[in-house]
Amino acid sequence: MQNFTFHNPTRILFGAGQIGGLSREIPQGARVLLTYGGGSIKANGVYDQVRRALEGFDIIEFGGIEPNPLFETLMKGVELARREEVDFLLAVGGGSVLDGTKFMAAAIPWQGGNEWDIVHRRMPPKTALPLGAVLTLPATGSESNSYAVITRAATKEKMSFGSPLLFPRFSVLDPETTFSLPSRQVANGVVDAFAHVAEQYLTYPAGAPLQDRFAEGILRTLVEEGPRTLAEPRDYDARANVMWCATAALNGFIGAGVPQDWATHAIGHELTALHGLDHAQTLAIILPNLLWVQRVPKREKLLQFAERVWDIREGTEGSRIEKGIIATRAFFEAMGSPTHLSAYAVGEDRFGEIVERLQARRALPLGERRDITEEKVLEILALAR
Ligand code: NZQ
Ligand code: ZN
Repeated sequence: MQNFTFHNPTRILFGAGQIGGLSREIPQGARVLLTYGGGSIKANGVYDQVRRALEGFDIIEFGGIEPNPLFETLMKGVELARREEVDFLLAVGGGSVLDGTKFMAAAIPWQGGNEWDIVHRRMPPKTALPLGAVLTLPATGSESNSYAVITRAATKEKMSFGSPLLFPRFSVLDPETTFSLPSRQVANGVVDAFAHVAEQYLTYPAGAPLQDRFAEGILRTLVEEGPRTLAEPRDYDARANVMWCATAALNGFIGAGVPQDWATHAIGHELTALHGLDHAQTLAIILPNLLWVQRVPKREKLLQFAERVWDIREGTEGSRIEKGIIATRAFFEAMGSPTHLSAYAVGEDRFGEIVERLQARRALPLGERRDITEEKVLEILALAR
């Protein structure tokens, strides 16, 4: 096992009714900036619950954070927060609202010049405003990690950054807030969480059986509970299990001490930036093809995955690996997430641009062994047609 430092300071308040306890989590007398997205929280009653729970606090609102949050939008929130001298940020929504709020937390007190440098040049913030979250879409793990992914419209760049200062102080995870999710977002959440586990588990053996078994437990739970949430949107237990899986998939726990890949995400972010696909839609397309192209270097873990996640024990090594990948693709499709680029009208003529952009940012080669070269990215994209 590799050396690691594990520290996850986010306090999780899990379960129905937990929004009611918000006021205990925010310092008395704080001036709170309540951030949200395009209005789903007003339609499903979450906004009203939050406002009720925060009676007596000074609340300033910043709505309109879009999916794949834009630097340009967020800077308006930064200016508002500076003007209003807010000292606590409360993000209410999905990963985009949480990520956007993390950026704002770093940008509001930033004195290092252009705020885009925090993302683009990964200049570490020296200080950040405290933030909390009410999560309404289980997917990204942003509710319990220190990362954010921000897009700049002007340059079509979608980039991740992080800082230990950006862990939410607390996150409220009430599965009932997810009852109103459209099926496309349910699928997105399950696929994203599945891919987060895959990025940290489907690499090479690192003598870390506990991390492996946690990872396999998350994957098996997603495979069981994901379809239940689609079939029965108000099944509380299914919602709760998917929600907890998504947090566990990217709160640092299963990734401690093991090699990590993240090539599927790197390629996927370019597809979102250039062609507007949802984050998880890109993962459903890239992951099965990347696993196929990388089936030799990932051989041992793919065999373990086939056996322990999909119960595939018969046949040659090659056929077990192939069946595990086919089962993964079929699961994404069954959740309603297409696994081919043709579903989104992204043609072959656009593949070169994706590779050029990865090259320009010196991101290649990718993968846990840095062996996913330009040629392999093109091969993965060609298989994904
Ligand atoms: O904007 P509103 O009106 O709130 O609607 C949202 C949005 O349209 C809607 N929604 C959210 N909760 C809802 C709901 N609709 C009905 N009922 C609810 N309870 O869902 C739509 C998508 O929301 P979004 O926040 O964009 O989705 P998600 O949580 O999948 O976040 C995706 C973003 O997270 C980034 C992605 O790149 C993308 O920008 N990621 C962040 C990561 C992190 N911080 O660690 C890691 C991930 O790999 C990912 O890259
Ligand atoms: Zn993701």
